[in-house]
Amino acid sequence: MKRVTMNPESSDFARWSAELLPQIESALAAHLPPESAAPQRLHAAMRYATLGGGKRVRPLLCHAASEAVGASAESIAVLASAVECIHVYSLVHDDLPAMDNDDLRRGRPTCHVAFDEATALLVGDALQSLAFELAARPLPGVSAERQLQMIHLLASASGSHGMAGGQAIDIAAVGKQISVAELEYMHIRKTGALIRASVLLGAHAGNADASAIDALTHYANRLGLLFQVVDDILDAECDSAALGKTAGKDQAADKPTYYSLLGSAAAHAAAEQLHADACTALTPFGARAIRLKQLADFVMKRRH
Ligand code: IPE
Ligand code: IPE
Ligand code: MG
Ligand code: MG
Ligand code: MG
Repeated sequence: MKRVTMNPESSDFARWSAELLPQIESALAAHLPPESAAPQRLHAAMRYATLGGGKRVRPLLCHAASEAVGASAESIAVLASAVECIHVYSLVHDDLPAMDNDDLRRGRPTCHVAFDEATALLVGDALQSLAFELAARPLPGVSAERQLQMIHLLASASGSHGMAGGQAIDIAAVGKQISVAELEYMHIRKTGALIRASVLLGAHAGNADASAIDALTHYANRLGLLFQVVDDILDAECDSAALGKTAGKDQAADKPTYYSLLGSAAAHAAAEQLHADACTALTPFGARAIRLKQLADFVMKRRH
């Protein structure tokens, strides 16, 4: 039998994430309304869409950024749930027939297939509200002024200048020839904005100073774009079973992506450059940014 030698840094990341993921899951389970509460069908659908799947990259980023600036783990759990609620809402709506019309998500039928379209719309609405309800809960050690700034940050990352705006551009770009600069503009919004909010919420919870916020903003901007570039590559190069969502959707729907615009080699090279830039932005934090660095590696190397 072939012996698998583990790189100590990666096994350390595996241990860190294996410890955090069940905590992220149980925080989400506790923050979501129980299925027994009325309206049961809506609450069942919210729990179905949110729990038991997903890589939880945004909550992990929130925790990792807080570690880089020294925040307490308890104050992060609620913020990590908030960003994941926005993310899951974006996925549920992204999969609707009026958008990407997907029937597979996280290895299971999409929310509107398992329930119905009206319920899926309401799941998105309710998860978005829940996110802000969570973000507005008292945050120990954080001033009201800073918390207001954090809520503002989450709102603008989610709205028409952030994720929802990016999704609108994505829909409008179907079947069109767009430039790499326009593609970047779209990706930075539809995916990058929430990735950046995840990092910055973690940093603000640790009362990060302006220079730390600047450096982390730079890291998160590169990472957010990297995330969607890799998503585009995986859509073209992986199969549905590995992805847990329908592969080849972008080409089938005639969507401009990094892969379709640049081709495989240049898309991979762009990803490598973004990964390198993200890691360089972490230099001022030294060893405290190890989890952020490892998450950049994870985003780069992920196969689903
Ligand atoms: C998929 O996000 C949608 C994009 C923003 C590209 P993830 O790849 O983080 O999906 P889950 O949460 O792990 O299912
Ligand atoms: C989704 O982009 C971005 C958001 C959900 C905001 P995609 O449409 O490429 O995501 P997948 O591939 O369906 O996960
Ligand atoms: Mg989409
Ligand atoms: Mg999609
Ligand atoms: Mg995709």
